[in-house]
Amino acid sequence: MIPGIAGDPPVYLNGEFTPLSQAKISVLDRGFIFGDGIYEVVPVYGRKPFRMAQHLARLARSLEAIRIPNPHGTAEWRELVGKLIDTSDAQDQFVYLQVTRGVAKRDHAFPAQVVPTVFGMTSPFARPAAALREQGVKAVTMPDERWLHCEIKSTSLLGNVLARQFAADRDALEVVMFRDGYLSEGSSSNIWVVKDGRLVAPQKNHLILEGIRYGFIEEMASAKGIPLEMRPVSQAEVEAADELMLSSATKEILPIVSLDGKPVGSGRPGPVYARLRQGYDEAIAAL
Ligand code: PDD
Repeated sequence: MIPGIAGDPPVYLNGEFTPLSQAKISVLDRGFIFGDGIYEVVPVYGRKPFRMAQHLARLARSLEAIRIPNPHGTAEWRELVGKLIDTSDAQDQFVYLQVTRGVAKRDHAFPAQVVPTVFGMTSPFARPAAALREQGVKAVTMPDERWLHCEIKSTSLLGNVLARQFAADRDALEVVMFRDGYLSEGSSSNIWVVKDGRLVAPQKNHLILEGIRYGFIEEMASAKGIPLEMRPVSQAEVEAADELMLSSATKEILPIVSLDGKPVGSGRPGPVYARLRQGYDEAIAAL
């Protein structure tokens, strides 16, 4: 059995549902050989996907960016996500979708004729524990050593994997990364700064992944009258923040209360976090 995965749940691979243990790809799959693929993680609450349209739009953008033809239209993707949800009894899940360029003789340049590999699975989603939501989490800073196309949700995640392990080795949940002295993001989350009641986040460009929660927080801030600035954010500003937060499909929104062992602001989750958290929970309840 695979560590952390109970039983042998059905997964989707290239048009068929098979038990996880039977789902096999070629060792020549370019996802395996080169990390030549993209992915999505769609959270599901009460068996309903959250912000699916935005996730599928980003999936299409990622495919286009690396020139893999989209193997499915939106309706087909929605149907596949629905079928994946039905493979599980869990109320809350996260659906993982991955598309690679496909199987071909090893050569860096794109093969002339290749069929994309499509993989999908769902896992029970344990929402962030009350302790994390109410007490906050620890993060550590590090330089952003990744490539310059972080806007693509690529499966080439070595830089992110090493960054996340950097945090784990220091008993922290996440890293806060800087490129040339300016905030980029976490290993697998976007990072938010609060100063004097204003929310500040790095602008959307090739240096960060535009999280689906990034867009959602933008909407919530506007609806709740929280001023939001998207602009370069210096490391000094991050270190002087009143509040810090991270956001991702699996972590939702969490307050960062300790950065490199020093308290962030009061060292407790702050009022802007509380308002966004309330908005997030309300949106999920209304699904
Ligand atoms: N990661 N930035 C990076 C580098 C990410 O990997 C993620 C998400 C985000 C937040 O995006 P979203 O709000 O759409 O989840 C930002 C997912 C959860 C993962 O890799 O598992």
